[in-house]
Amino acid sequence: MTSRRQFLAASAAAGAFAAIPARAAKTSPTGFPYTEFEARIARRDFRDMTKDVLPTPCMVVDEALFQRNLKIMADQIKSTGISIRPHVKIHKSVDVAKIQLAHGGIGLTCATIAEAELMSNAGLKNVMWTKQPASKNGIERAVALSIKDPTFMFVIDDPIVFDWIEQAAIADSAHLKVLVSVDAGLSRQGIENGQPAVDLAQKIASSKHMQFEGIMAYAGAAAHTKTFEKRRVESAKDMAAPRETVELIKKSGLPVNIFTGGSTGTYNIDHENGLTELEVGSYVFMDTRYFVIGGKSDDTNYNDFAGALTVLTTVDSRRHPSQVTIDYGNKAGVRPTDKVKGMPWLDVSTQGAEYGLLKWKDGDRDLKLGDRVEIYCTVLDDSTSYYDRYYVARGDQIVDAWPIMGRAPGAAWR
Ligand SMILES: Cc1ncc(COP(=O)(O)O)c(C=O)c1O
Repeated sequence: MTSRRQFLAASAAAGAFAAIPARAAKTSPTGFPYTEFEARIARRDFRDMTKDVLPTPCMVVDEALFQRNLKIMADQIKSTGISIRPHVKIHKSVDVAKIQLAHGGIGLTCATIAEAELMSNAGLKNVMWTKQPASKNGIERAVALSIKDPTFMFVIDDPIVFDWIEQAAIADSAHLKVLVSVDAGLSRQGIENGQPAVDLAQKIASSKHMQFEGIMAYAGAAAHTKTFEKRRVESAKDMAAPRETVELIKKSGLPVNIFTGGSTGTYNIDHENGLTELEVGSYVFMDTRYFVIGGKSDDTNYNDFAGALTVLTTVDSRRHPSQVTIDYGNKAGVRPTDKVKGMPWLDVSTQGAEYGLLKWKDGDRDLKLGDRVEIYCTVLDDSTSYYDRYYVARGDQIVDAWPIMGRAPGAAWR
């Protein structure tokens, strides 16, 4: 896996290529110097780099749609007064995170300590880790990051973890910013609402080495509930107990600075449930799991945000009727629930590690060998873990390349 440092080092090393005059570069019979592709990327030379020269399978971001998604979310937060702390698990990209912060993000949320280290080490502040550290590795890294970056914070949902991090904080004379994670209908993480959550908040607040920041309540089940009205009902139901918990903690004398949760599916609902900020992630790119949940004005299509990310793939064999083989296979995250952009009559099938299939019923709608097809993936955070780069496209022209990092649990910046 390429780390950000390696990526940057490679870029610097490849600076040597910049000295090669353009006329010395070998061009292929088709005009593009394919053998220099990586050197071109490293020195950010995107001349003549269109989608059709990219190595496939690869991830392509439609710049215009991506920008539109950011603007829609920014307008929403302005109109409701709620903040966003976007979740980077969706994209794992420092470049995307920086753009989200420029569009009103008050910080970032991360699913792993590796993502948090990546963002913080890139100089991005107010990073929140939304999962508690339960191993020595995780605890030591959370404490170390808190010392290095006092704006970093993380959640816990268990008094046992409280004891572990307190011991680590005492040993390192650290001061930690900590939130209590409570259950919001997902049965995945989060202490029981009511007194157990209040007691944990009090424990944190009474520690000399911790500051109680607030409550996290991620209603992940509500996020993908189909139809806007049902989602609204589910959200209110799942957030009722966390809301009561926040009130109980306040009554017990503790300020609750942060009440975080929310999702792309409930971004225009969450302000009704008392949250102070949203951990929205998928809105930047979108995936097929979200397309089908329905929006405010359409029960079957959720089109508040556009599909700005596709996997570009090549038809590399067509030896059988009504189907072609593509190079988007299991190793690239293909799923039968993926959708082909602009060609709804095609069904996506898995086949093997480097092979996927596109099948159709209508004989008139054939695909040719070498055709390029763009596919929307099903679950963004899973799919982006298979790739190490986004190509950013303005129309057909590639204008940037952003590394995807922090995908493994180890430290990403070394
Ligand atoms: C804890 C947490 N918060 C926020 C999100 C972001 O949700 P979405 O991508 O639906 O906006 C996720 C996504 O899985 C999550 O796990």
